[in-house]
Amino acid sequence: MAVDNLGAWAVDPSNFPTQGSAVQKARFAVRYAILAPSSHNTQPWRFVIDGDELLICADRTRSLPNIDPYDRELVISCGAALFNLRVALAHFGVPVEIATFPQSSEPDVVARIAFPDRGPPLKDLADLFEAITMRTTNRGQFFEQSVAESLIEKLKRAAETEGLDVSFARELPERQRIAALVAKADRRQFDDIRFRRELASWIHPLRKDDGMPASSQGFHTLVDFATPIAALAVRTFDLGNGVAAAHGQLACGSPLLVVLSTLLDNNEGWITAGLGLERLLLTATKEGYSTSYLNQPIEVSEFRKALADEMNVEGYPQLLLRVGRGSPALHSPRRPISAVLL
Ligand SMILES: Cc1cc2nc3c(=O)[nH]c(=O)nc-3n(C[C@H](O)[C@H](O)[C@H](O)COP(=O)(O)O)c2cc1C
Repeated sequence: MAVDNLGAWAVDPSNFPTQGSAVQKARFAVRYAILAPSSHNTQPWRFVIDGDELLICADRTRSLPNIDPYDRELVISCGAALFNLRVALAHFGVPVEIATFPQSSEPDVVARIAFPDRGPPLKDLADLFEAITMRTTNRGQFFEQSVAESLIEKLKRAAETEGLDVSFARELPERQRIAALVAKADRRQFDDIRFRRELASWIHPLRKDDGMPASSQGFHTLVDFATPIAALAVRTFDLGNGVAAAHGQLACGSPLLVVLSTLLDNNEGWITAGLGLERLLLTATKEGYSTSYLNQPIEVSEFRKALADEMNVEGYPQLLLRVGRGSPALHSPRRPISAVLL
């Protein structure tokens, strides 16, 4: 039986090479970048030292052709990793200059990071440092208490600081309408054998460094997905023992729904979505809130428009999140640094 690689979460900041070069410091900060969330925990990134700069590259060999045919979520995931890197380097006092998608001829280079001698202090970023190792996707049911207005303000500021538009659904009827969209999109996806097979391969019990561990979802074998009911719990939330929430329960167990959207639906929009996503997730984590995702209506194009209309979004919805107070959730594994840092 494979043992999940959870050691990545125990990164010790006291090992930071204070006397090292900027590149050595950046190499250390990559340990925090890889703790970012990624679609199906594919971890679709590579970090390359290029002279005295660091590149974050998209690893498109880890794409999800069925659920994410244009690599939209893949780029969002790389954006979340870039955000963690910024936070860690701000915490350790290393100034950076970042160019995203610096060369159109190299679409796999998501960001080029240079290390100037001086830069402004970035206290607001550094303040999120502790939250990096505390954040986890929590697919449990959240308590029905409403989310504090002060947190909603902070989440809004977090998303907007990175250039995202953000909309909230707080009242139950609105959450129920969105949950109904999630349920329809979920059903559409699960009716497709290609979707089920792709998901199954990322919840495979033999995976130990990536994917979503079946054990942490209360499942033991999901390999054939003959009855996709339990599998739904991975993508909505788990009422216990792998029983998926029906959409009514989904609305009650998700006291706040958040849509993050962008005006552009391209690399630039997606990297912005990743940066804003992780800033928002770390902000919620720091305040003791749990988060997870209900992206199904965004992944099925006809429902994406319906979600935009429901939430009065002008641009393109990129992520649909649940926020609330929940019981603690387990971390997911990460690939070893040696596999991602070249
Ligand atoms: C772009 C993106 C899309 C995601 N979509 C979903 C989703 O629809 N449903 C879900 O349960 N988790 C979703 N996740 C969460 C990932 O499955 C999760 O980040 C990954 O399994 C690693 O776990 P961790 O976040 O606890 O570290 C998404 C994450 C990202 C970055």
